[in-house]
Amino acid sequence: MWMKFLASLILLVWLSTATPSLAQYVIDTNGEQVDNDEEYYIKPAITDNGGRFTLINRNETCPLYVGLENTDLPLGYPVKFTHFAVNIQDEDIGVNRDLKVEFKEVSSTCVQSTEWRVGENETRSGRRPIITGQDDSAGLYGNYFRIVETESAGIYNFQWCPTELCSTCGFVCSSAGILRENGKILFALDAATPLPVVFQKKDD
Ligand SMILES: *[C@@H]1O[C@H](CO)[C@@H](O)[C@H](O)[C@H]1NC(C)=O
Ligand SMILES: *[C@@H]1O[C@H](CO)[C@@H](O)[C@H](O)[C@H]1NC(C)=O
Repeated sequence: MWMKFLASLILLVWLSTATPSLAQYVIDTNGEQVDNDEEYYIKPAITDNGGRFTLINRNETCPLYVGLENTDLPLGYPVKFTHFAVNIQDEDIGVNRDLKVEFKEVSSTCVQSTEWRVGENETRSGRRPIITGQDDSAGLYGNYFRIVETESAGIYNFQWCPTELCSTCGFVCSSAGILRENGKILFALDAATPLPVVFQKKDD
């Protein structure tokens, strides 16, 4: 009797600790795991927030900013994800993991790479826009983002909190949301409301 009770107790504890790790991979709009070999369009999960993710020419200067199309037309650029942790053997992209996000198939006159990068805190908005280019600091911390789950399956937020790269750095971690400016939709950290997004595999 005691053993049986103990066994159910262990099962209960195992279940309650094991359940969250079931959702360890990012799922696309087809319900399939997001893969590091494929390209994906990022889109808001809710309409009226803008269209697909794209590069924004904010001010006729380089680098370009990460933002959203102003239209639901199938424009924008797909992205590819690359984990920081080289010990992640499989191709499936995990939630809460530090990863690079890079726009693909971009034709632009800017020489910067099309990797996402955290920009400088701006006085006007009090927010850090997400720009493109390689972080030129030694740690490369500015180039790693995370995909985190929301309460809805298949819907995610982007965060910047690269603790896999440095667990003692004391980053000002933050979620990203939209920042509207002169009819343009930028994507920036320090959002009061993080933008819920979905991932649509290219060529579907
Ligand atoms: C755009 O560039 C002009 C001239 O360099 C500058 O005065 C203005 O503040 C810039 N705007 C933004 C949003 O950076
Ligand atoms: C950005 O600047 C604003 C003031 O302009 C400040 O309140 C905020 O804490 C700063 N954010 C970061 C991440 O440093």
